[in-house]
Amino acid sequence: MRVIIEKDYDLMSKRAAKIISAQIREKPDSVLGLVSGSTPIGTYKELIRMHIEEGLDFSRVTTFNLDEYYPIPSTHPQSYHYYMQKEFFKHININPDHIHIPNGLVKDIEAFCRWYEEAIKKAGGIDLQLLGIGRDGHIGFNEPGSSLGSRTRIKTIDAATIKDNARFFKKKEGIPKFAITMGVGTIMDAKCCLLLASGSDKSKVLTKAIEGPITAQVTASILQMHKDLLVIADEKASRDLKNKEYYQHIEKLTRELKTLIIDEKGSR
Ligand code: GLP
Repeated sequence: MRVIIEKDYDLMSKRAAKIISAQIREKPDSVLGLVSGSTPIGTYKELIRMHIEEGLDFSRVTTFNLDEYYPIPSTHPQSYHYYMQKEFFKHININPDHIHIPNGLVKDIEAFCRWYEEAIKKAGGIDLQLLGIGRDGHIGFNEPGSSLGSRTRIKTIDAATIKDNARFFKKKEGIPKFAITMGVGTIMDAKCCLLLASGSDKSKVLTKAIEGPITAQVTASILQMHKDLLVIADEKASRDLKNKEYYQHIEKLTRELKTLIIDEKGSR
């Protein structure tokens, strides 16, 4: 696990976008796992800028989103389909056939979830999964108590999460109580996970997730077992981390190490 602490939301977003763009440049047909919510908006903005100003090419990239409300039409302004188009896809050169987001109106949910898992496998698995964290420690919509081995399925959304997400809906009655989400096991299969956390609202739960015990009550805590986890938090979200100074020390030394590493030609 590597923990990077950036001063503010803007720097956190830029750092995340830099990592995602490096992944795409190294493997132009990368499979990205994407997330919605307010946290990744700055990252998407920076990736859009890189596409426009630096020619970052998404034409061969495939994406799988973590989740979608159920039931909800993709045209609903609060659907994750709508969000992804508005915040990201319509601004880049991604092939629409390469975009996958759970269908919020599908009738045979079980068959759809099986298909989603298969589609991820067929694409070669997720190279990099971008994640946010809910205030109760959820990733995707894997609410407290979700099996840490779960796969894509329909989940009931926790009352606290419904309350958190109410800010996006005009009418209280319109807030979906269900979602189709990748499971914790699905997320853990990604080759690399990139967890973002911003703001003081997330400081307690981030501490639980990365420094607390691994428990299904905080599903993000399983990420401690991931072979390649990168956490990027801003100052406010990292406020309660017990080992904050240690993470900063490691980051400083990692940067120092990079300047010392001698390549095969004998130069730095
Ligand atoms: C929703 C999504 C999660 C997301 C979380 C945090 O519940 N299902 O995938 O990480 O919200 O959202 P925000 O970034 O707005 O705090």
